[in-house]
Amino acid sequence: MRSFLKTKTAIVLALSVTAGTASADGHGGVEVLHWWTSGGEAAALNVLKEDLEGQGIGWTDMPVAGGGGEQAMTVLRARVTAGNAPTAVQGLGFDIIDWAEQGALANLNDVAAAENWDAVIPAALQRFAKVNGEWVSAPVNVHSTNWVWANKSVLDANGIAVPETWDDFVAAMSTLKAAGITPIAHGGQAWQEATVFDGVAMSVLGPDGYKAAFIDLDESVLGGDGMKEAFDRMALIRENVDDNFSGRDWNLATSMVINGEAGFQMMGDWAKGEFLNAGKVPGEDFLCFRFPGTSEQVTFNADQFMMFDQGGAVSDQQAALATAILSPSFQSAFNVVKGSVPARTDVSDEAFDACGKKGMADLAAAASSGNLFGSMAHGHANPASVKNAIYDVVTAHFNGEYDSATAVEELVDAVSIAQ
Ligand code: GAL
Repeated sequence: MRSFLKTKTAIVLALSVTAGTASADGHGGVEVLHWWTSGGEAAALNVLKEDLEGQGIGWTDMPVAGGGGEQAMTVLRARVTAGNAPTAVQGLGFDIIDWAEQGALANLNDVAAAENWDAVIPAALQRFAKVNGEWVSAPVNVHSTNWVWANKSVLDANGIAVPETWDDFVAAMSTLKAAGITPIAHGGQAWQEATVFDGVAMSVLGPDGYKAAFIDLDESVLGGDGMKEAFDRMALIRENVDDNFSGRDWNLATSMVINGEAGFQMMGDWAKGEFLNAGKVPGEDFLCFRFPGTSEQVTFNADQFMMFDQGGAVSDQQAALATAILSPSFQSAFNVVKGSVPARTDVSDEAFDACGKKGMADLAAAASSGNLFGSMAHGHANPASVKNAIYDVVTAHFNGEYDSATAVEELVDAVSIAQ
């Protein structure tokens, strides 16, 4: 019932906002639907807005709050159903393929050819940006989910070194708990639990197991002992979050680490945008490291802007937006602020801070060693139906609805029904 009400509110909101934006769009600008509403996200989005405004292209903002983009996708479906798709829409992985296959997206092949996208955009991203030989979206960045963010002075004051193994991490959580500090800052929303699960599952199953479970949907791995161990670790993490975690937005959880209320947050590198927006410096105020046991792996998601077909060829404004997004200078300026790394392989890491440089180096190393995988939590491993089935089980288990042995059985069933 709650989610039905939320959906209904989102649709009403979308339709009323649409009515107000028609004229702005009619004056040759772009209307951009996105979920970048936290402080760090908004600061990054501003880099894009200013770039376009500098070219004389108006920007009509269509923000739909909700990390991970679920609510934004609900609004998008309502807009498309009403025959009023926005010009450009933030999208992830399999959702992009889905919209392209429905024929909803404009063909960007001319822009891509003029800007040589085939040569500079990595294959892992092209897989979701180019559908049946047609470029349909412009990749903005590459994020990854298997990160941990820590408050450095909290760790120092409690004699905690960066944990390298799961056992180190368990010990660090106990030390913080004993000191009266919330070990893990967490927001109890299904996508956030799934984000944590990306790292936890990778650390237990290893790269082959992660791929077998979440990309190949191999029942023997989905239902195996390793998966039960991953759920057991999630249960331990659950014991180390505060009492008010339920429903908390991810950026509020990040604030708990920023202000020293909590030690760690397991979250994608959009969390870094919040630290930077609060004036914090990596290595001095906060630390970034890969979830223990996943130092060689990267579970990635790439934000892209899908250009919705407005009837006919891609518009000049859409082409200008796509060109701006992929320009090397924008790729550097935007991703420095956002916490992500560039969607092109030829952008220098010079302007990036220590975490950004590490993110770029990790991505390149993982891509060349076969350790780069699409994030289950952020729609790069499976279509939404399977992703949502996994979310349901992970979040029900996290909230204590069933134990790990049952979660494993539920996971096998839910994934098989969703396919
Ligand atoms: C992700 C998205 C990121 C970040 C995050 C939280 O899905 O890729 O850019 O915005 O959600 O909102």
